[in-house]
Amino acid sequence: MLYPEHLLDEIRQRTDIVDLISESVQLKRSGKGYLGLCPFHPDKKPSMNVNAELGIFKCFSCGKGGNAFHFLMNKLGLSFPEAIRMLADRAGVPLPEDEVKDPEALARHARKEAAYLIMQKAETYYREQLKQFSGQQTYAYFMRRGFDDDIQELFGLGFSPDSWTQTLQFLTSSGFSDQAMEDAGLILRREKDNSPYDRFRGRAMFPVHDHLGKVVGFGARRMVEDDAQPKYINSPQSLIYDKSRILYGLAQAKSSIRSLGYAILTEGYADTISLVQAGFSNTVASSGTALTTEQLQLLSRYSKKLYIVYDGDAAGEQAALRGIDLAIEQGFDVRLIALPEGEDPDSFVRNRGPESFRRAIELAMTIIQFKIESFRKQGLLNSPAEKAQAIRSLIETVAKIPDILQHDFYIQQISDTLHLSYGQISHLYDELRKASLPSINANRNAFAIQKKAIQQTDVPQATKNIDLLQISVLPEEKEILHLALTHEPSLRALCIKLNITKQAFISEAAGKLYDEIILAYTQHGSRPVHIVLSERNDLEETVRELLMDILFGKVIASPKWKEFNVKFPENIEERLLVEALASLRLKHLDIELNALRRQLQSGLNQEDEMKIVSMIQTLMQERHDIPLKFHTSKL
Ligand code: UTP
Ligand code: MN
Repeated sequence: MLYPEHLLDEIRQRTDIVDLISESVQLKRSGKGYLGLCPFHPDKKPSMNVNAELGIFKCFSCGKGGNAFHFLMNKLGLSFPEAIRMLADRAGVPLPEDEVKDPEALARHARKEAAYLIMQKAETYYREQLKQFSGQQTYAYFMRRGFDDDIQELFGLGFSPDSWTQTLQFLTSSGFSDQAMEDAGLILRREKDNSPYDRFRGRAMFPVHDHLGKVVGFGARRMVEDDAQPKYINSPQSLIYDKSRILYGLAQAKSSIRSLGYAILTEGYADTISLVQAGFSNTVASSGTALTTEQLQLLSRYSKKLYIVYDGDAAGEQAALRGIDLAIEQGFDVRLIALPEGEDPDSFVRNRGPESFRRAIELAMTIIQFKIESFRKQGLLNSPAEKAQAIRSLIETVAKIPDILQHDFYIQQISDTLHLSYGQISHLYDELRKASLPSINANRNAFAIQKKAIQQTDVPQATKNIDLLQISVLPEEKEILHLALTHEPSLRALCIKLNITKQAFISEAAGKLYDEIILAYTQHGSRPVHIVLSERNDLEETVRELLMDILFGKVIASPKWKEFNVKFPENIEERLLVEALASLRLKHLDIELNALRRQLQSGLNQEDEMKIVSMIQTLMQERHDIPLKFHTSKL
């Protein structure tokens, strides 16, 4: 079906391309636009540019580009009409063929639409009530808490009239059915005669928005302190309100989360508003529930760095702990902000000011520091037996971090904080890892299961796109060669301490250049190797090209350290070298593993099969242990 131009324009205009792309790519503000890793080619350095104003994207590396429709077509392999359908649904733009859709789906869609509409109407109504005489007390209450007019407007704060039917009557007169009010959770029904009445009465209203800014629910705070009713009454779960998928304040905070590169998580409506008012516009709340996987997934569109603020008491600490493991497992970099006993974020920032909170952010603990602190407070680091137990638990937490290249950093932190040697902790880490890996068992049954598991294991991500036959020099290889050419301590570490040989390289040209570097180093130790090599005129063409490429081309320092760790390491060259070597070794192992897996499928006899399975196990083990092998302290 051909769609009229104006329809496509409307869909495009209603689609925030940054939001759309953020669902699969982590974007960061960069100049006027946004930048992220291109999903259409193996991208190490962000080269996907997104221009929100023009609604377009372009990868400067692989060349893919276009508008929101093209993005979906490329990303999901959709046809043009399919991409239109998907974006139209997202943007809430009905397409002509919707009129003849399945009547049941149509009815459900209509009920949802009505629920959204009525919530929007209710928000406006409650806001207006704030300006009525009966709303004065609540308005004064907001002001007393430091919520000025602008912030009240930003969060849509309001007041629900203290009456059984006033809101209901207003909504009825605006043309909404009881069914719509019930779907939206705005009314309740009396048991005796099923007659409807307002759920929210005489309360300060905090609308809950989804990340697109649509009202999906309300939190309603009592205005009379000795009320026998709960402090907050919340909208129920509904057609449009799935509590596990909503983060309070995300619509208001999302763009600053993206540009600041981290989110602050509180536990309450008031805490979030107070922090935003104090200038921390990247704040959201989990609102009474423990953090869910869905909430984290939503957040990860904007950033994977999360600062959790929790109340300075045992209960607050427990609540923070609940969210942490989930976040860690999902690859979040989690920091914890501890507040003094008896303070919540709202009281803290009001009593002590934004500067104090900023300092608290700077002093935020990593998960390891947080756990150690909590063990210390519980007196669990006193006896040797308890201390050993605590260390085990810390290592288990580290093991949950999906990016194994980060494990080393945390192991270092455990040893620093507890004043134990790095060797001791990393040894324990090795032991615990080994214990949790299934040992190779000659038992037939176990063998069969293992073989099946190995065959089912996905081709590891690192090398999915490496074609051995036409391999060009890998970025890791360039990094290593660049360091070898320009940083003597790295070169020394490579050829003496680490004993890295040509075999460590995957591409032929890189291996050859490495050999030449080592040769130059051993023969002319006192002269910089890049000078020695530049003067040689008998180098192979490809090797010479690579040399020039590395010496004159832009070498990209890995962005990882800037993004992730607390401080930029002092010995940055060594860290880069370690990172590149580890990553290269991973790719190498994956190539070997793939070759072995292919052999396994070629119908071998039992004995050969067992040999190969055992080789695979050994390589898999090495793959796990890589970060430790390449630890800097060994350089
Ligand atoms: P708090 O009791 O810490 O409330 O509950 P608060 O946000 O600090 O509110 P103020 O400062 O007293 O106004 C934290 C969150 O737990 C949920 C709400 O989401 C609240 O923001 N809660 C709390 C409820 O849902 N019901 C309640 O009765 C209490
Ligand atoms: Mn509070």
